[in-house]
Amino acid sequence: MKSVFPTLVEQKRIPFPARSLKTLEQTIRALPRVDEAGVRWCRKNYPGGYTSYGSMSDLHRQFSIFDELKRHLDREASAYAKKIGISFPKGELRLSSLWANLMPSDCYHAFHLHPNSIVSGTFYVSVPKGASPLRLEDPRSGLFMACPPRPMQIDLKPKAGEIILFESWMKHEVPPNRSPVERISVSFNYDWIRD
Ligand code: NI
Repeated sequence: MKSVFPTLVEQKRIPFPARSLKTLEQTIRALPRVDEAGVRWCRKNYPGGYTSYGSMSDLHRQFSIFDELKRHLDREASAYAKKIGISFPKGELRLSSLWANLMPSDCYHAFHLHPNSIVSGTFYVSVPKGASPLRLEDPRSGLFMACPPRPMQIDLKPKAGEIILFESWMKHEVPPNRSPVERISVSFNYDWIRD
């Protein structure tokens, strides 16, 4: 048996110090209080929750704690790209956006992908018991034709302090949060920058 065209997803704990994780959580919890534009954006686009995606998607340029996290993510994203066999004939893989997500009970984020990027992922800051998984869709799902029904989705259950990395074309969602406590994460995109 050979594995051909496999879909490789990384899930691992990264050595981000516990003290920094705490600072990161406090910083994210404070964001909605200072980000009026973001809160307005979320009313329309992120019902019940808060994401800085629509207002501050460059948190690494604004807060040193996010820049500290970026240094870890840079290492992990480039190691992941190498491991899955992506090489860049010129230019490099570079962080293009980094944003925070606060998902209270029932908040969800429907299936989507990140069309302009190469590697996408999330770092998990707080994942209370019963909080939503990350749900991935089989990229072959439109191609099964006459095949009997088979699972088309898989749920990954991250823990605080872990990252999940995948290729940006992979469809993913966060189903409704069934925990009474907020699920907190930082998401990011890496692009192929050719300058
Ligand atoms: Ni996403």
